[in-house]
Amino acid sequence: MVQDVNPKEEPQGTPHLINEVTMPRERKDEEWRAEFPYPWDEDEVVTRRDTLRFLVAGSGALFLATGALAILGALPKGKNVTAVPIAKVGELAENESKVFNFPDQYTQGILINLPGHGLVAYSDVCTHLSCAVLYQGNGKMFCPCHDGLFDARTGNVLAGPPTRPLPLIQLAQQDGVIYAVKEIER
Ligand code: FES
Repeated sequence: MVQDVNPKEEPQGTPHLINEVTMPRERKDEEWRAEFPYPWDEDEVVTRRDTLRFLVAGSGALFLATGALAILGALPKGKNVTAVPIAKVGELAENESKVFNFPDQYTQGILINLPGHGLVAYSDVCTHLSCAVLYQGNGKMFCPCHDGLFDARTGNVLAGPPTRPLPLIQLAQQDGVIYAVKEIER
């Protein structure tokens, strides 16, 4: 005997399929909203608020950044200030150094790009007996005359006969150029 594999009568309890094609669209939307209630109006208000907050915060950040750049870029002015261009921005790789004339051709400073610290500059005249110090490439400056050693982050004495730190040279930046502006005795 051949069994009917597509019985015409469905057993009781069989899920009944909804005919999606013939169901009105409005009713479909209503059912969907009833099953997944969501406060659409509130959502719209929050989104606008968030957008406004974002715009206000973004404008504030831009304003502060512009101010910071202006301060960084400004060269000090005054009778006793000498702004001497000594390097271009990005000229020195990390742990590289450069000797420069400051404030004139008779005295020199040393510019160092310290990893994690940025550019620093000191007078390169050893505070012991005025030999020229050299950057060793390891965060330390060395004076070959009597083995004086200085910390390149601070200019302080680490070893040897010097007792005073190296004078710091203040730097400024404008239009992609680094300037030495002032020597600070300590
Ligand atoms: S001159 Fe530098 S250690 Fe003496």
